[in-house]
Amino acid sequence: MKKFRVVFLSAVCLSLAFADVVLPPPVKSDGPGLWTLLERRASGTRNAFPAGAVSDAELASILWAATGRNRGGQGWTVPVGMGRPPHVKVYAVKNNGAYLYDWQKHALVEVNNKNVKAEVTADDFVRNSSVILVFVADTAANQRAEMDNILAGAMSQNVYLAADALGIKTRYLMTLNAAGIRQGLKLNKTDTPLCIMPLGKK
Ligand SMILES: Cc1cc2nc3c(=O)[nH]c(=O)nc-3n(C[C@H](O)[C@H](O)[C@H](O)COP(=O)(O)O)c2cc1C
Repeated sequence: MKKFRVVFLSAVCLSLAFADVVLPPPVKSDGPGLWTLLERRASGTRNAFPAGAVSDAELASILWAATGRNRGGQGWTVPVGMGRPPHVKVYAVKNNGAYLYDWQKHALVEVNNKNVKAEVTADDFVRNSSVILVFVADTAANQRAEMDNILAGAMSQNVYLAADALGIKTRYLMTLNAAGIRQGLKLNKTDTPLCIMPLGKK
């Protein structure tokens, strides 16, 4: 039994390194209704994008909305073909490092402990935002680019609605620095950056 406990604890520690962050549970109630959010949905403007800090609790809810587990762990908040795992990954680039959102553990897995915002984009308003979400197609998991873009579209609209519900602005951008993202997020050759969404508190 003791041996089992040691093996189990070692496995848990190995699966989630110390710099990784287990996120607080997402908000699943309260806030403005869906129809209110749809009526007022809007992108943050390029010349007045808010730079207020987004907390990990707020980020947790936005990431869950983007690609989290729902239906008691049976599905996702976005339609994923044939119930397979999502083939578009979401990274959160923060001042203290860059993280992959792990939808299984609802955790941020550190991929870089440096601030790589400047490598993601040349747009100052994005660099100055609190968190930059980066959507990356996993072409090893799915070879049909149109499916990646459909999934990223569903994810990004969920981000718009969840962010607005929390008083946070965002903006969908296809303009990005693919080479910088590849380096900063230590992507595989089969990973393709699709789009980015800065987040800033109003
Ligand atoms: C496919 C697509 C790519 C976009 N790429 C950029 C971009 O690279 N930079 C940017 O500032 N806005 C970009 N936008 C525009 C904004 O995300 C935003 O959707 C647009 O200004 C409309 O504003 P609204 O969301 O308030 O209606 C893009 C929009 C779409 C649909």
